[in-house]
Amino acid sequence: MRISITDLCNLRCLYCMPEEGVCKKNHRDMLTFEEITEIAKVAASLGINKIRITGGEPLVKKGIVDFIASLSKIEGINDIAMTTNGVLLKEYAKDLKEAGLKRVNISIDSLKPEKYREITRGGDVNMVLDGIQEVLRLGMTPVKLNTVIIGGYNEEDVQDFVALTADDNIEVRFIELMPVGQAGNWATERFISNEAIKKKIGNLIPLAHQTSSPAKYYKIPGAKGKIGFINPISSHFCEECNRIRMTSDGKLKPCLHSNQEIDILNIIRNQPHKLTKVIEESILAKPQQHYLYTEDFQLGTRNMSEIGG
Ligand code: GTP
Ligand code: 5AD
Ligand code: SF4
Repeated sequence: MRISITDLCNLRCLYCMPEEGVCKKNHRDMLTFEEITEIAKVAASLGINKIRITGGEPLVKKGIVDFIASLSKIEGINDIAMTTNGVLLKEYAKDLKEAGLKRVNISIDSLKPEKYREITRGGDVNMVLDGIQEVLRLGMTPVKLNTVIIGGYNEEDVQDFVALTADDNIEVRFIELMPVGQAGNWATERFISNEAIKKKIGNLIPLAHQTSSPAKYYKIPGAKGKIGFINPISSHFCEECNRIRMTSDGKLKPCLHSNQEIDILNIIRNQPHKLTKVIEESILAKPQQHYLYTEDFQLGTRNMSEIGG
């Protein structure tokens, strides 16, 4: 289960957020940490054993460490991970680990300070690099880096990322740019397939595929880390998808790319006895596949920061 705990973020990546950011929602319209924990307990009783916390940026949310601690006490949840932009990671990593967080996936699209600042509209890449070193030091491995290659922006950075896998237990995963929300048409024009990136890298050894992972993995000869390709566009992995998503305003989304949403905020507040049924229904509502770039596809109303990736 992927749980987005906020749609706010301390960065504004070009493909994820409008320049002005997103409007703050009313507290009343957001799930509280206590409510999320209750929902996670019911999900665990149905057999969900892994939770990934996403955002926006989860580390901007007050009380995050105690929240992770409360999730890690839930019977049946044996893996808690987080997807973060890494800016605040150096500060939080140790406490998060002690609270029970097992791993982090870090979004980083360039190692060059100027380019990173341009893509994130103002971020400081050195803070993220310090965060990566800290989680490596703490042994929260493998450390997964998510990198979106954007035509006209960071194609030249591919080899820098590949080089990071040589000596450390780092998995660099190239994610194909998806058309989501307001930046959808912008993304379509800048799409680069992972096949093209793979060709650019050249010397790659294929590794066994782990089902339930969206990435197909390779390594360069002699490297300690891995290189993954997440191809939601060029060869989608929907038939293997076992994710259910929950937004910070309490909607269950059976699929990242469909507009179907099931209101769980209202259920937990007014009809909590129906929680099990609603979670079951939303799992059964998962579509056969996503319809990106087909005749049936319409851009969604939510930006990526409101879904959590
Ligand atoms: P691991 O458990 O470490 O494999 O994490 P993950 O890859 O599921 O999580 P992460 O937040 O790092 O997501 C990386 C990218 O994969 C994001 O762009 C996600 O949207 C995408 N992704 C993850 N799961 C799915 C899925 O079920 N369907 C689609 N279309 N994309 C997914
Ligand atoms: N296309 C591809 N990846 C995206 N992400 C956010 N928006 C998009 C998009 N439009 C990535 C982030 C993060 C992960 C959860 O999803 O970089 O690492
Ligand atoms: Fe923030 Fe992640 Fe969106 Fe960038 S991709 S604006 S870091 S939520």
